[in-house]
Amino acid sequence: MLHLLGAVALVAIVSTSPEVAAFPLSLSSFAASANRLVARADAVYSPPVYPTPETRATGDWTVAVNKAKAELSTWTLAERAALATGDLWQPPGLCVGNVKPIASTGFPGLCLQDAPVGVRVADLVSAFPSGVNVAATFDRTLMFSRGLAMGNEFKGKGVNIALGPGMNPARTAEGGRNWEGFGADPYLQGEAAYQTITGMQASGVQATAKHFIGNEEEHLRIESSSNIDDRTLHEIYLHPFLRSVQANVANVMTAYNQINGSWAAQNSKLNNGILKGELGFSGTVMSDWAGARSGLASALGGLDMNMPGVPNWLTFDGTSYWGVDNLLKMVSNGSMPESRVTDMATRILSSWYLLGQDVDFPATNFNGWDLTDEATNQHVNVQDDHYKLIRQMGSSATVLLKNTNNALPLKNPKSLLVIGDDAFPSSKNGDPNFYTYRGGNDGTLAVGWGSGANDFPYLVDPLSAIIARSASLKTNVTSSRNNFDLAAAGALAGGKDAALVFINSNSGEAVSIVDGNDGDRNNISAWGGGDQLVLAVAAKNKNTIVIVHSVGVMDTELWIDHPNVTAVVWAGLPGQESGNSCADVLFGDVNPSGRLPYTIAKDQSHYVHATPLSNTESHPQVTYSEKLNVDYRHFAANNLKPRFPFGFGLSYTKFSYSGLSIKTLSLTSAQTTDLHAPKYTVNFTVQNCGSVSGEDVPQLYLTFPSSASEPPRVLRGFTKVSLAAGKSVSVSLALSTYDLSIWDVVKQKWVKPSGTFKVVVATDALAAASLSGSI
Ligand code: NOJ
Repeated sequence: MLHLLGAVALVAIVSTSPEVAAFPLSLSSFAASANRLVARADAVYSPPVYPTPETRATGDWTVAVNKAKAELSTWTLAERAALATGDLWQPPGLCVGNVKPIASTGFPGLCLQDAPVGVRVADLVSAFPSGVNVAATFDRTLMFSRGLAMGNEFKGKGVNIALGPGMNPARTAEGGRNWEGFGADPYLQGEAAYQTITGMQASGVQATAKHFIGNEEEHLRIESSSNIDDRTLHEIYLHPFLRSVQANVANVMTAYNQINGSWAAQNSKLNNGILKGELGFSGTVMSDWAGARSGLASALGGLDMNMPGVPNWLTFDGTSYWGVDNLLKMVSNGSMPESRVTDMATRILSSWYLLGQDVDFPATNFNGWDLTDEATNQHVNVQDDHYKLIRQMGSSATVLLKNTNNALPLKNPKSLLVIGDDAFPSSKNGDPNFYTYRGGNDGTLAVGWGSGANDFPYLVDPLSAIIARSASLKTNVTSSRNNFDLAAAGALAGGKDAALVFINSNSGEAVSIVDGNDGDRNNISAWGGGDQLVLAVAAKNKNTIVIVHSVGVMDTELWIDHPNVTAVVWAGLPGQESGNSCADVLFGDVNPSGRLPYTIAKDQSHYVHATPLSNTESHPQVTYSEKLNVDYRHFAANNLKPRFPFGFGLSYTKFSYSGLSIKTLSLTSAQTTDLHAPKYTVNFTVQNCGSVSGEDVPQLYLTFPSSASEPPRVLRGFTKVSLAAGKSVSVSLALSTYDLSIWDVVKQKWVKPSGTFKVVVATDALAAASLSGSI
């Protein structure tokens, strides 16, 4: 029996039909697919790997797994089975996913809630910067702090399992959920995932690494097969999940798509073989919502928790592929060993014990299905002073892409034009689901749409922040939110000291079609006629400064070389303090130190493109034919010049690097056999040789011996340093054998190729080496 110190009160709620629920997943988009669930037998192959490895009491999980095993030894099979299925995605559960309390055991149940940017469909919570901005900070301390702050908010609301972070790399230019993850490079994704999870779980909330795996685009995501070869899978897409497992992530959510022809939730090679086998994952494998396409096959294929329990988005009749009855039937008819059910329960309960949720965990105190129901909403304010961190991260993630003749920071301008809808508040503020299911671009863009978003407590728009910041300077600020009256825009721009043009580009999850975009963008041009607005303003103002809020790459070619476009500020999706973060950089209160977490091309044919909206195939085969050459690796491999490479970002000061030395560490025999133990350190000095203080991001890239057939450069280290003018600091970046290895598909293990590795310290992925050495 469990002895709980905190009681959970569940209050009956009048049933809400799914169509009007607070999680308005577009049923029509699922309906369209429901008849086409037949997998193709012909295309590709994912080998069977059975049985599911049982979780083991090792490392940091030892105590938790032992506790779970001891506790479960007193439970009946039916009680164990009850942990594994959600309550069918409807009230009386209060969250987007719920495991019901099991009264006979004293287990209080579980609340699972989005989103990766803060608690979703809840009041009095913060809206944090999106994953793509987290990546752009290149700052591990901020990554950790955000995870911790978000975790505290989830815990304060009584959420056991936060459904994030997302870590699918930005493989395609248009990928709708690129902004939820941490950019286009697996190493950067991995570091941000590790810090986010470590921070979040330090609060006592279970994190969820998602979506495992190959969910890099949205249109037809529940139909398609991501066909990824073994080496590419290991070196690019698996790496962030490896780092998540190293951070002791409690849950991994499977994707909707197939991988190599087998649905993610039942892909035994991935779940049994790679995740639980190779990576030794001890926690819970949960499905994405209605992402389990079968009962027995997913149970044997390594799924531990079926969320939210419904068989598909059309069936809300109380049936499930799982549920206690079906799981027991699978055992009693001999299709599945009882030990599989026990292992599902062991994993779920181990995750709960690992985070200490058996002691004093708050009961869920909000109702994600109805925020107005006073019986179930206690309106607990969990925001603390997180706005400070959010503001800091917003400016720290801001990437200065162009700054001709030090146009920025602004120097006591007498007159400013602020123009573009993106500088203004949303006219839809107050609509509870607006930011989650954004009905279109309206006002400044601070998050994309879908389950990756949450509802903002407020959103500081850039215009208000600029007016407030420039008040003491007595600057005359003129503004217009009209993107389309180009003659008026030009007329307003003339004669101003500077014209600030705000433009944006949005995308989201394929649960809503926004302005014709089914999650993925139909193109990567600025929304709302932004490019023409820039050109109209630049035609009349010699100091035109463009500020971009974007979910990812955006085409800048129409105006980037315009001589009157003097500065470009890439602000991403900063969260609730957006305007303040932007003003901090524009006026020089913060020296920008963000770096691009993806490459912006000059030529759109240099991108990998997502499956177009025009594709209506039943099961499109999305072949990852670029293999290892994702993002900057493709440009480097093919000698292509992008507009702005991965890792690029300017500062108001200058930095120099000197004195590279590479040291081989003396290791104990245990360290020698540990693939991940630091084996070398790369040491050098960074100096701020400009006249103002600032932060820099030195980056370490490796060039493998040619026999390895790796892309010419791969990121294997970075740090963020803060330096007053004239000061310098020593930096030491560690490399492990894993960092110097490739996945050998024949040997099925990591192998360090023989030969010389070139070590490059550079300011971005394609820049000439500032320092170089060899190993
Ligand atoms: C579907 C999304 O793909 C997933 O990321 C999210 O956590 C669940 N819905 C629950 O909202």
